[in-house]
Amino acid sequence: MSNATEHTAPRGLEGVAANESAICYVFGEEGRLIYRGYDINDLADHSTFEETAYLLLHGDLPTKQQLKEFTAGLKAAQKLDKVVQRIIKDAPASANPMDVLRTAVSAAVFVDPDRADNALEAERRKAIRLIGQLPTMVATFHRLRNGLKPLAPRRGLSAAANFLYMISGETPSDEAEHAFDVALILHADHELNASTFAARVIAATLADVHGAVTGAIAALAGPLHGGANAEVMKMLLEIQAPERAEGWVHQALAAKRKISGFGHRVYRAEDPRAAHLRRMSELLGQKAGQAHWFAIQRVIEDLMRKEKGLYANVDFYSASMYYVMGLPLDLYTPIFAVSRVSGWCAHVLEQHADNRLIRPRAEYVGQMDRRWVPPRKRGA
Ligand code: COA
Repeated sequence: MSNATEHTAPRGLEGVAANESAICYVFGEEGRLIYRGYDINDLADHSTFEETAYLLLHGDLPTKQQLKEFTAGLKAAQKLDKVVQRIIKDAPASANPMDVLRTAVSAAVFVDPDRADNALEAERRKAIRLIGQLPTMVATFHRLRNGLKPLAPRRGLSAAANFLYMISGETPSDEAEHAFDVALILHADHELNASTFAARVIAATLADVHGAVTGAIAALAGPLHGGANAEVMKMLLEIQAPERAEGWVHQALAAKRKISGFGHRVYRAEDPRAAHLRRMSELLGQKAGQAHWFAIQRVIEDLMRKEKGLYANVDFYSASMYYVMGLPLDLYTPIFAVSRVSGWCAHVLEQHADNRLIRPRAEYVGQMDRRWVPPRKRGA
């Protein structure tokens, strides 16, 4: 049988510009990243997660008053409705936190006052609610699965400090709060990555924000995307000591295994987010008396650069930074979602502002002109 068409579609849509966007851009060759025209380094050095989330959603940095109102909106949204609390409570302690988060977000629409309203202002309110609620969802499940009482969000704290507090019950040090805040800024958006594209495809059917974010969480969970950060830490735990790193990596590469935390579809230079995370991981690792994780990573990083020409991506050093902060491995990807929800929502709003259904074609490579035959004539 002949194929219907020649194969011309780039695999994995590599290099394809699927839509216009004014939110975020990755300059792959230079290793540069901008949110709304601001360099990520500028934002990482000076901004906060709350301000960055506002920037992504609204297009400009907020005035003092706008930030105050936006932050108050996030705070007002942090507490979970009983319906959502119950769904999280019903999840078995063994559940994957990403699965719980996806389900909780999906359920949050039941009780959202703006459900079924896709007008811009209603969507902005829903976005604020989701950005406020996701950290509480993750922390609630984490406390419950450990037999602990979930903690109510604490009013005076930043988004970063509040999340760490709701997980551990302790107010974080300034250093930990700052590092976590920068990590949230760095993860907030990344152009048309897989989960954001998934969100836009869902939104383009005129489905709602909650549906788009639910789908995006499912996409983020995979080990080729956000799931890579936990995989990095599993690898470091297996390697255990810097002197074992080289042999471990050589063996993995010889077996044609991918090393999590390396490579990227777009970057051909260092991911600018990795540089910030590298610095913070080293600093926090030293402070925690766990400098060996960073030492292992430096060996792996040099080796991957030399042998494969690959750079560390955002998931490589975030893994060890979260680890030395005492965060459990299976929360690394939910933390990614806690930040990226701001970008997903900005993209849904942008999609709905000038929508057209996203419906590409497939290149058919299957068989043609076949005829149905009864089962008895289909062979053994
Ligand atoms: N370890 C080892 N080799 C890698 C690699 C990695 N992490 N990432 C890419 N490569 C190699 C591939 O084996 C391939 O080599 P080949 O041409 O000799 O077969 C080449 O680099 C291209 O890789 P490919 O998988 O086609 O690139 P992609 O653009 O489809 O994939 C990723 C991009 C991110 C999915 C891929 O780099 C990867 O799987 N990385 C590990 C997971 C990860 O960290 N994900 C988070 C991304 S932010």
